[in-house]
Amino acid sequence: MPRTLSLSLSVLVAIALAVVMVNGMTLQVQVLYNGTPAPSSMALRGDGLGLNWNKGASMSKSPSNQYMWTLDLAFNASQVGTLLQMKPLVGDSTWSIGANMQVVVPRSSASVALYPWFRSKSGRYSVVGSVYSPQLNNTRPIVVYTPPSYLENTLKVQRNVLVMQDGQNLFNASTAFGGTPWNCGSTIDQLVVQGAIDELLVIGVYNTPDRLDEYTYSYDPCYDTVRGKCVGGGGKGDLYLDFVIETVVPWSAQRFRIATARPNLGIMGSSLGALISCYAAWTRPSVFSKAGCMSSSFWWNTEDFNNVILKDYPPPPAGEEFYLDSGDCCPAPSGDDRFQTLRVVGHLEELGYKMGQNLFHYLDQGGQHNEYYWGRRFHIPMTDLYPPSPLPTTPQ
Ligand SMILES: *[C@@H]1O[C@H](CO)[C@@H](O)[C@H](O)[C@H]1NC(C)=O
Ligand SMILES: *[C@@H]1O[C@H](CO)[C@@H](O)[C@H](O)[C@H]1NC(C)=O
Ligand SMILES: *[C@@H]1O[C@H](CO)[C@@H](O)[C@H](O)[C@H]1NC(C)=O
Repeated sequence: MPRTLSLSLSVLVAIALAVVMVNGMTLQVQVLYNGTPAPSSMALRGDGLGLNWNKGASMSKSPSNQYMWTLDLAFNASQVGTLLQMKPLVGDSTWSIGANMQVVVPRSSASVALYPWFRSKSGRYSVVGSVYSPQLNNTRPIVVYTPPSYLENTLKVQRNVLVMQDGQNLFNASTAFGGTPWNCGSTIDQLVVQGAIDELLVIGVYNTPDRLDEYTYSYDPCYDTVRGKCVGGGGKGDLYLDFVIETVVPWSAQRFRIATARPNLGIMGSSLGALISCYAAWTRPSVFSKAGCMSSSFWWNTEDFNNVILKDYPPPPAGEEFYLDSGDCCPAPSGDDRFQTLRVVGHLEELGYKMGQNLFHYLDQGGQHNEYYWGRRFHIPMTDLYPPSPLPTTPQ
């Protein structure tokens, strides 16, 4: 063989090898779990990259971290961008609880961390303490719900954190208005265990006797009439949101394993508590990326949320999500503000929001304006706003 030909052949071989090597990438799956008893073996099942749902691939215990198990999954360019679903099992027999864990196969070698749990099917709520608001000069309890994994696998940091208004109405019949709580905790527990949603931690902020002022961002000169005369009020909403953002969220982050940077924080409520939630997400999108607004009081101050706020503030960046709903009970003038809600939904669509993607709307037929109905349909905003979603990967 002529020398030049053999040279160019070996160059070709080298290039081909390099292509294969560049093409051959690995996704390191890291399972992090510190529950007791410590598992003696860990397996991974899934639907791609060599995994299947019938028999687990056994994972290796990390030599450097007693709580970590790893498995390297090989992939190539043709698999980049596909969705991989997985679940760890203790001893290849005890499945982790909750939704399948998902990852979008990255462009190059990377790792993904999974934080499974295997025993706990329910979360817990408790009143954690009372917090003084320097912004409003008052004090109120904060109730926090931690999801099922929270006490079992303490390596997991919760990335979905939802601030909710009217905290006393959410969990506990003894404190709820009219004795009917929303039962948020048991609804979230069920949805998590069914795999319908990702876990979330709820920070429930109690209302105060100043509720009407705190949940409204403008002064309404005639929000009610008494004996033919207007009653005006409202307008401390910005101070209330300063309290939530500058006091309540940092206070909670000191006590719970949460990550609250965008896009992790959501805000939700009902009635005036919904009005302030939608207002918070529209005016403070760098803080809140999801708003759940149930039976919103969009009638406030001649519908100034729709007529003024949505126009005066620039639309939030991509990634912002809104859930709005109402009932339709009962006859005019209320009808649970069905038409005011539909006007806001229409306005958001005009501004580019897409139904089913970053905008969700539900009409609860026969739904009334009270805790019973909000609790009964609470699963709908949960499944819209917290569907199981792909985990972040770290390039290697
Ligand atoms: C990529 O991997 C898949 C699955 O292992 C395999 O079927 C396919 O032939 C590979 N493609 C290339 C270009 O190597
Ligand atoms: C704060 O509230 C307390 C008790 O309600 C009251 O005595 C005090 O004057 C208030 N302070 C301010 C600055 O309004
Ligand atoms: C519910 O509220 C009552 C009254 O504040 C309290 O005694 C009880 O411990 C609460 N229940 C839970 C589970 O926190």
